[in-house]
Amino acid sequence: MNRNHFFSTLGISAGMIFMAPVLSSCSKSIADTSSGGTNTTPVDFTLDLTSPTYAALNTIGGSIVKDNIIIARTSAGVYVALTSICSHQQYNPIAFESANGRFHCPNHGSNFGIDGSVINGPATSPLKKYNTTLSGTSLRVFA
Ligand code: FES
Repeated sequence: MNRNHFFSTLGISAGMIFMAPVLSSCSKSIADTSSGGTNTTPVDFTLDLTSPTYAALNTIGGSIVKDNIIIARTSAGVYVALTSICSHQQYNPIAFESANGRFHCPNHGSNFGIDGSVINGPATSPLKKYNTTLSGTSLRVFA
């Protein structure tokens, strides 16, 4: 192996070593951005509201967290699903405050409307909202 061949080989290896963490970071960043700093997998699940696990959703003002999504019953037959991960510094989970009609992050005090919009910071980005469909006692949550 001559000198040029040695350095050529070393350069490619070093480049790959230095680029791996950068590419990994980019990938994570892109995933976080696309999901509002939340889930990276497609969201589509159905809750059986007769299950004791989801009993809180049978009461107006009740909420549960599943798969980094907070689902709240905001009024009769109306359910709201938002990411449970705060858009500020990713505190998880945020909480539903029925009395105030908002979602609250206890970490730094950001509040969000039931549509996920920022009421007050320090968060500046809204929470990602998911669709909900109630069919009998089955509540589907999906992107
Ligand atoms: S992490 Fe939620 S307000 Fe800072």
